[in-house]
Amino acid sequence: MSHRIGYLIGSLSGDSINRVLSKALVRLAPAELELTEISIRDLPLYNRDDEMNPVAAVTEFKRAVEQSDGLLFISPEYNRSIPAPLKNAIDWGSRPWGQNSFARKPTGIIGASVGAIGTAVMQASMRSVLSFLDAPQLNAPEAYITFKPEIYGENGEVNDSGTEEFLRHYMEEYAAFVERVLSSIHPGHIGDDHPDTKH
Ligand SMILES: Cc1cc2nc3c(=O)[nH]c(=O)nc-3n(C[C@H](O)[C@H](O)[C@H](O)COP(=O)(O)O)c2cc1C
Repeated sequence: MSHRIGYLIGSLSGDSINRVLSKALVRLAPAELELTEISIRDLPLYNRDDEMNPVAAVTEFKRAVEQSDGLLFISPEYNRSIPAPLKNAIDWGSRPWGQNSFARKPTGIIGASVGAIGTAVMQASMRSVLSFLDAPQLNAPEAYITFKPEIYGENGEVNDSGTEEFLRHYMEEYAAFVERVLSSIHPGHIGDDHPDTKH
């Protein structure tokens, strides 16, 4: 069964290493995952005053999240936490109260850093946020990537067999996790329901 996976890149940078990583992940993902970026670039800063009458970018963002069978977060770590643009997107998606777009979406978290611990602290913060938002998360394998620019091509090539195998394995495990979660919470009609529908 194929699954529509929306991926969010936590960096707005034009030469983002996490965008480079995303191309490798798309290339190495199993065929049953249809990966599409959900852009966070045009979202305004979250303001509770605008929740009930949001701009189109917010409505489109929430719809894209809700129409996805699963979500993959590919993000840098900023100052040992979640980059503001990504947290901003999550805050929009979580609201208004009772219309949390992330509920019950199977999620994966991966990130690349220039540093040695490879976004581990950001990922720990993301787990806390996603737990609160009732989004199941792939627990293992974890993927903390210290980015080596010479390994990655512009179109998703990975010129190191060990790294390529690790990333392929991550995506296979994520696909298996998505299948497990969806088959347990939406038996028979995967992905057709509003995320707040109780089963
Ligand atoms: C504001 C800021 C804070 C950063 N904080 C961290 C950090 O806490 N941990 C880390 O490993 N790298 C940190 N870095 C370095 C990033 O790993 C590096 O800039 C990386 O290229 C960001 O990912 P991107 O290229 O996808 O934007 C920081 C960079 C910036 C700009």
